[in-house]
Amino acid sequence: MKPIQVGLLGIGTVGSGTFKVLQRNQQEIRRRAGRGIEIAMVADLDVERAKSIVGDGVQVVADGRQVIANPAIDIVVELIGGYGIAKTLVLEAIAAGKHVVTANKALLAVHGTEIFAAARAQGVVVAFEAAVAGGIPIIKALREGLTANRIEWIAGIINGTTNFILSEMRDKGLDFGTVLKEAQRLGYAEADPTFDIEGVDAAHKATIMSAIAFGTPVRFDQAHVEGITQLAAADIRYAEQLGYRIKLLGITKRRDDVAGGGIELRVHPTLVPAKRLIANVEGAMNAVVVQGDAVGTTLYYGKGAGSEPTASAVVADLVDITRLATADPDHRVPHLAFQHDALADTPILPIAQVVTAFYLRLQVADQTGVLSRITTILAEHDISIDAVLQRESADGETKTDLIILTHDTVEGRMREALGQMQALPTVLAPIVALRKEELS
Ligand code: HSE
Repeated sequence: MKPIQVGLLGIGTVGSGTFKVLQRNQQEIRRRAGRGIEIAMVADLDVERAKSIVGDGVQVVADGRQVIANPAIDIVVELIGGYGIAKTLVLEAIAAGKHVVTANKALLAVHGTEIFAAARAQGVVVAFEAAVAGGIPIIKALREGLTANRIEWIAGIINGTTNFILSEMRDKGLDFGTVLKEAQRLGYAEADPTFDIEGVDAAHKATIMSAIAFGTPVRFDQAHVEGITQLAAADIRYAEQLGYRIKLLGITKRRDDVAGGGIELRVHPTLVPAKRLIANVEGAMNAVVVQGDAVGTTLYYGKGAGSEPTASAVVADLVDITRLATADPDHRVPHLAFQHDALADTPILPIAQVVTAFYLRLQVADQTGVLSRITTILAEHDISIDAVLQRESADGETKTDLIILTHDTVEGRMREALGQMQALPTVLAPIVALRKEELS
């Protein structure tokens, strides 16, 4: 059978990895897919650079529309990124009846509903394994491997840049700004790292996983998003003394205890017990923990970015589509795992209704009665204390740090208590409050 013909839109880091992996492993891939998979055409603004990567056998053009217009192309791979031209070209490729593979988490988290509907109307597949956690086959695991389960929650380190920064802050005791500069120098963080350090990239990925896990539309606009820019080295140190590590987690949870049901969808720095495997995921690595009612806890670990790790996911999608291209569209794996007419509108809960434990750091005057006033406020809000740590003040010092770990509480109640504690004259600086998850 004639090889499947693929057109690439964009040949940067992931595109060149995809080209290399398809070339290097072409025999194995053909044996798995049942036919060959060939990159026949590439569109990239830098035509000369693109030619130097793919050689003479592949047609290179500057305009992506030429790829879409080519009737010989069966699958379009979008590796441009962002919501601008990438969205236009993906929708045009779908309209032209092409299957699409994309690594674009931002596009799917924000416009997924529109894109999947367009694909369904045309009977084509939009595959996106590379959009979440790079080379880790987490979409496959959620959509197919765990399909027997009611997913209870997912918690993931799904941004390598921030995990690298947090690992360095902990290892070297350095503050955020210093480590960020070093990460940029080493090429771990981009020149404009905003999406990574503000938690937006992780929230895009968490949004996609949430929709697949719970059978809902993608709703990035309702995610609660906090990054790591405010995190102090002192909190990483205190957390460690209490047996915890701080990780930027993307979390989504089913909440059957609220009337009508709800879903938590949030990204924020989180204290995790140091003994959990995920707490020991260091550097730029990614990991996702999924809790299913039948399977229990499962953990997926690997490289979340990079040329060939991400290409591994792109090529897996190409193989899937090659196998499925002839299957009746109604019998393919649905984009969001659930049949499109079975998606539920279960609400994403506001952050005030989220339930977590907390780590609090209060800079307080070192005098009689301070601790008692603070614990009274917590008790009045029905917030139970799990552990307390007080830094010994140096000679002559009149203030100290008070660290409190709480048991689970509703966030709205904690915010009220924080307001009252902050107003105490003996609390001398803004209180640091970080969420804590036991993940068990
Ligand atoms: N910028 C992302 C990260 C990789 O740091 O993990 C692509 O999603």
